[in-house]
Amino acid sequence: MKRYLSKLTGGVAVCAIMIGAAGAVSAADSSVEVLHWWTSGGEASALNVLKEDLESNGVAWKDMPVAGGGGEQAMTVLRARVTAGNAPTAVQMLGFDIQDWAAEGALADLNAVAAKEGWDDVVPAALQRFAKHDGKWISAPVNVHSTNWVWANKKIFDELGIAQPTSWDELVAALDKIKGAGYTAVAHGGQPWQDATIFDAVVMSVGGPEFYKKAFVDLDTDALGSDQMKEAFDRMATLRSYVDDNFSGRDWNLASAMVIEGKAGVQFMGDWAKGEFLKAGQKPEEDFLCFRFPGTQGTVTFNSDQFAMFSVGEEGQAAQVKLASSIMAPSFQSAFNVVKGSVPARTDVSDEAFDACGKKGMKELAAANASGKLYGSMAHGHAAPAAVKNGIYDVVTAHFNGEFDSETAVEELVSAVEVAQ
Ligand code: BGC
Repeated sequence: MKRYLSKLTGGVAVCAIMIGAAGAVSAADSSVEVLHWWTSGGEASALNVLKEDLESNGVAWKDMPVAGGGGEQAMTVLRARVTAGNAPTAVQMLGFDIQDWAAEGALADLNAVAAKEGWDDVVPAALQRFAKHDGKWISAPVNVHSTNWVWANKKIFDELGIAQPTSWDELVAALDKIKGAGYTAVAHGGQPWQDATIFDAVVMSVGGPEFYKKAFVDLDTDALGSDQMKEAFDRMATLRSYVDDNFSGRDWNLASAMVIEGKAGVQFMGDWAKGEFLKAGQKPEEDFLCFRFPGTQGTVTFNSDQFAMFSVGEEGQAAQVKLASSIMAPSFQSAFNVVKGSVPARTDVSDEAFDACGKKGMKELAAANASGKLYGSMAHGHAAPAAVKNGIYDVVTAHFNGEFDSETAVEELVSAVEVAQ
């Protein structure tokens, strides 16, 4: 399958400083400082692919890692750096955050290199919707991740005779069996972004794509306050009963490790989790299983890591363009995403080098797009702006930790979204 995505719909929108087309980089401008949150084992391996690629092109890498899955801490550090007048060259960023920085006029204009390399033709519109602002390219998309995945320990599934669940009831039955056998059924890290990642999938499974869109994209009060939303919170409470006692504050990659080590049955997480399994030497379909969150088959909630380029003055621009150009190269998109767990951000990259989960991810993304069932992830900043996202996080986490019952959570959700707009 050579072309796995085509003609995604979407549209969008400012910028500053023009950068010249990719060209030779002189010693004076041959370094980039990159702020990112790729600090887990799998993420670091993927990041190395980028560092090495760039260094082989004569550009030195100044690393600015800010630990914290989902990138909240990284965004706080970024704000402080920009406020101090010391923006990094490039920043890993998600969805609406890119648009917010562009609207502030902080981002560079990549149109020259984008035109030279034909990005318009190969980057799906769903990603251009975030990578362009007022017709100008402002970031280079590295990948497409999706958030509605389950990562399961195959040995535990085999031992207990569990087939991959395809509905909520089957999921609950599977989790009961795993718990009954003495394992932790659900490996989870109690951090707001992780709770929200599960909520993405649960809302999709309760109400389907239209309901998901009404609630998280349109921010429709009726959908947010509906019985279906209450059902979603009820399901979150059910899932809460399958996590272990030490879940609070646990990093997502440590939750992945519980599945990898055979201590837990499943983790509900985006496909960056696959990077951890691979890093541990595990193989899909032999050691671990990847399947869609039961009840969301056919739909995909996506996020895309992009490197937004800050206006850094002339001296940084050539290296910045080189970085953008390296990221967009088809060979890089394949090599990086094979390791990261994500899939390419271009439509013209072969799936040949990808493992079974990667091939499945590419195929399902293309199919979801073709059938209008591809939606931005709320939890990962691709459905609504950060203020709304953070408002939803607060409610979901308070409910998950037992501070609200489901009925109260629904009321709180409606008012949190209203206040955030
Ligand atoms: C990013 C991934 C990252 C994950 C955990 C997500 O928001 O898109 O690239 O691996 O957070 O840190």
